[in-house]
Amino acid sequence: MFFAVPLFKSLQKKIDRINLVFREGLTGVRVIRAFNQDQFEQDRFEGANQDYTNTGIKVFMIVSLMFPIITLIVSGTNIGIVWYGGQLIGSQAMEVGNLVAFMTYATQLLISFMMVSMVFVFVPRAQASAARINEVMDLKSKINDADQPVDLPAGPASLTFDHVNFRYTGAEKLALADVNFSATAGQTVAIIGGTGSGKSTLVNLIPRLFDPESGQIKLNGTALTAASQAALHDAISITQQKAVLFSGTVRSNMVYGMKDASDAQIWHALDVAQASDFIKEEGGLDGVVEQDGANFSGGQRQRLVIARTILKRASVYIFDDSFSALDFKTDSLLRQDLRKDEQVQSAVTVIVAQRVSTVADADLILVIDGGQIVGQGTHDELKATNKTYQEILESQLRKGDEVDA
Ligand SMILES: Nc1ncnc2c1ncn2[C@@H]1O[C@H](COP(=O)(O)OP(=O)(O)O)[C@@H](O)[C@H]1O
Ligand SMILES: [Mg+2]
Repeated sequence: MFFAVPLFKSLQKKIDRINLVFREGLTGVRVIRAFNQDQFEQDRFEGANQDYTNTGIKVFMIVSLMFPIITLIVSGTNIGIVWYGGQLIGSQAMEVGNLVAFMTYATQLLISFMMVSMVFVFVPRAQASAARINEVMDLKSKINDADQPVDLPAGPASLTFDHVNFRYTGAEKLALADVNFSATAGQTVAIIGGTGSGKSTLVNLIPRLFDPESGQIKLNGTALTAASQAALHDAISITQQKAVLFSGTVRSNMVYGMKDASDAQIWHALDVAQASDFIKEEGGLDGVVEQDGANFSGGQRQRLVIARTILKRASVYIFDDSFSALDFKTDSLLRQDLRKDEQVQSAVTVIVAQRVSTVADADLILVIDGGQIVGQGTHDELKATNKTYQEILESQLRKGDEVDA
């Protein structure tokens, strides 16, 4: 047991490793092929597998020694009993029947020990597995509802960030420092900045995927932490940076945020998202959506996800880098129609983008750099006074982008 238990534990880790390598190989199969890394991946899997095999052989050698050893002990004991008992019988101190009875008891006892030791072989494996399961089950969410959650008012819509600081767990640097802004119904807040500047981090604070380290965020005048998460998520409609679709039909994907949506409402959302044309060609609302939306292009997926976001009734609509895969014309048409949409007009819209043309017509533009808001205002104000904004504008104009606001 002393040797086998630690080995069993490491064996369990090695199964994990095999699973991980195998899964990566499956999901990344196209990347692996494109980079000609088939052999490398095969070797990696072979390595993980060999490692598992070696440990397996070692541990089962030890375990397989147990049976012969115990048989040896049982037989040795029997020999001892017969030898010693034979002498006792010889000197007429004991009867033959007693010797046989003694031998039977001894054998039974030893066999029970053998059984117990077999169980002990399985216990460490179960232990290692149970520890892993408990790790997950015992994990407490850091985001919890207040004891007595208050109702989130349905309107009028407003969104306020009040001196918000945020840091990822274990990070030295603040991911967001002293973010301050507010917006009311009908307004569009745009966030622009380079990759890694903290744009996604900022919008992910709104549905409480994370809580700020200090400062407060309010939706419709109520602190996010005071409302229940269910009510909060009901009031927010978000397009995350990665467009996620589920296998099913266009309709089943669209009604994800609004179960009782009518076909007319769905088509309206698709119209606004500039998606109705290709959906009509692909078989309408009952058209098939494959796993991960694989039968659509990146830009089409993005538009579908945008349509899903628009369909839901919410106090705040968030689009995280949702327009980046759209061409300039579609991007511009989409934002025009979005502004005309009644539902969106009575809500706050937050648009994250990298292109000046996407943000130029927003009521409030936040320029973010390294987690700091380095400027806020309208396009004209920032164009005149903000250095970072001027640099972004400059770099994009040079590439021939048009600002059509
Ligand atoms: N889950 C995370 N844990 C730790 N750091 C993160 C996490 N997500 C993002 N970051 C860090 O926070 C910074 C901002 O990331 P992000 O908000 O995704 O940028 P953007 O959306 O502007 O491209 C980056 O430097 C990134 O490394
Ligand atoms: Mg991002």
